[in-house]
Amino acid sequence: MAAIEVIVGSVYGAAILVAESLEEALVAAGHTVNFHEEVTLSELDVSHPWLIVTSTTGQGELPPDLLPLFMEIQDRCPPIPQLRYGLVALGDSSYDNFCGAGVQFNALLQELEAQPLAEMLKIDAGETLEPEEPALAWLSSWIEKL
Ligand SMILES: Cc1cc2nc3c(=O)[nH]c(=O)nc-3n(C[C@H](O)[C@H](O)[C@H](O)COP(=O)(O)O)c2cc1C
Repeated sequence: MAAIEVIVGSVYGAAILVAESLEEALVAAGHTVNFHEEVTLSELDVSHPWLIVTSTTGQGELPPDLLPLFMEIQDRCPPIPQLRYGLVALGDSSYDNFCGAGVQFNALLQELEAQPLAEMLKIDAGETLEPEEPALAWLSSWIEKL
């Protein structure tokens, strides 16, 4: 069983609801979850898997509650090949930079040699009113790789 750092970035709350559903499913599967909003790098353990759930705002930008962590990792973090992670990105394909925040975070972690346990999930608000559903389906395959 793993201890998982769930890290959320949200503007209007949808990503928080999705992350809470994922937390519930992880705990039901016997894992431990540290749930973070507005977290700093020193509060996170890179020996634990990270599950990042983020929406996109502005023109493909990170939510303000996740941006400081992104900047901190970008500016100060050495390579982290030991980090295993998953990314669930909420967005809307009617915008130019679909799921831009997730795309940016994924690129940053890959630059630092972190290991994705599954391909990033992109959830399109224009296609589903219940983002928890695809997120939970994706989680079951992510859990198998833990
Ligand atoms: C002002 C605004 C800007 C947005 N910009 C983007 C964008 O650039 N790319 C994208 O994929 N989605 C964009 N979205 C869609 C949101 O990411 C999507 O609705 C998401 O589900 C919101 O999640 P949240 O409630 O956690 O913030 C935008 C939504 C709003 C309201």
